[in-house]
Amino acid sequence: MNQATTLPANSAPDILQEAYARDGYLMLEGFFTPGECARIKTRMHELIDGYDPEEQRTVFTSDGQGHAADEYFRTSGDKIRFFLEKDALDPDGNLTRPKHDCINKVGHALHDLDEEFSAFSRKPPLAVLARTLGLADPLLLQSMYIFKPPHIGGEVHCHQDSTFIYTEPESCIGFWVALEDATQANGCLWATPGAHTEPLRQRFRYRDGTLGLEELDATPLGKANTCLEAKQGTLIALHGRLPHQSGPNTSAKSRQAYALHVIDGACAYPEDNWLQRDPSMPLRGFTN
Ligand code: FE2
Repeated sequence: MNQATTLPANSAPDILQEAYARDGYLMLEGFFTPGECARIKTRMHELIDGYDPEEQRTVFTSDGQGHAADEYFRTSGDKIRFFLEKDALDPDGNLTRPKHDCINKVGHALHDLDEEFSAFSRKPPLAVLARTLGLADPLLLQSMYIFKPPHIGGEVHCHQDSTFIYTEPESCIGFWVALEDATQANGCLWATPGAHTEPLRQRFRYRDGTLGLEELDATPLGKANTCLEAKQGTLIALHGRLPHQSGPNTSAKSRQAYALHVIDGACAYPEDNWLQRDPSMPLRGFTN
């Protein structure tokens, strides 16, 4: 098994650019402080306190099928919505445990609708990093709080983020933050370094009232070969074409993470992308 390369958070721009161009990812330890991680975890706990599962019980699956026809998912780009783990429901659709332990993720506009998440997402060094990695006009497109709860946290199949976050030309960069230590036991990320130079395999589009995956290249993605175990506060920057995945959480510890996806405003954003915003809520950058 290959182990990922980590760099100090204050590495020089040319070191970061070289590693990102070569590997398609960066792992920067200590990018966020334990205090920043704790604050955002507390804030999410409060948001869940206000969530009523009786009103909406939507399971999230990463295979592009279960949620594909689901309006709750498709119209979540400018909202804060809650998606449950499939193993958190009994056959009658009732939660099998307290609601805080049942959630797969919350998305997709935390960074614009909540002050704490906005501040976390717009930490100035992150803006600097986005520009260092080549985004001329970085726009914060979507945010997800990912729970990977103990015992039931589901696997995420190997994918490329540009499949779901597509611009012309492609510009997506994912910023993934370990809010808790991520290990193999609780479902850390895996990636295939260097494979970001391969073609984009699929594109997730909304056409004729249906969400679906369009095949662009039939070459299988295979299985990611490098383990990205990450200490709390580590930032992982992922190139939109880099194949990555995460395993199920079979442990008793959760693996909470925050993922922010950024695109370049200089690129075109197609009208048939799944994530569309109400015109009253345009995309914002790090400082506007
Ligand atoms: Fe991803």
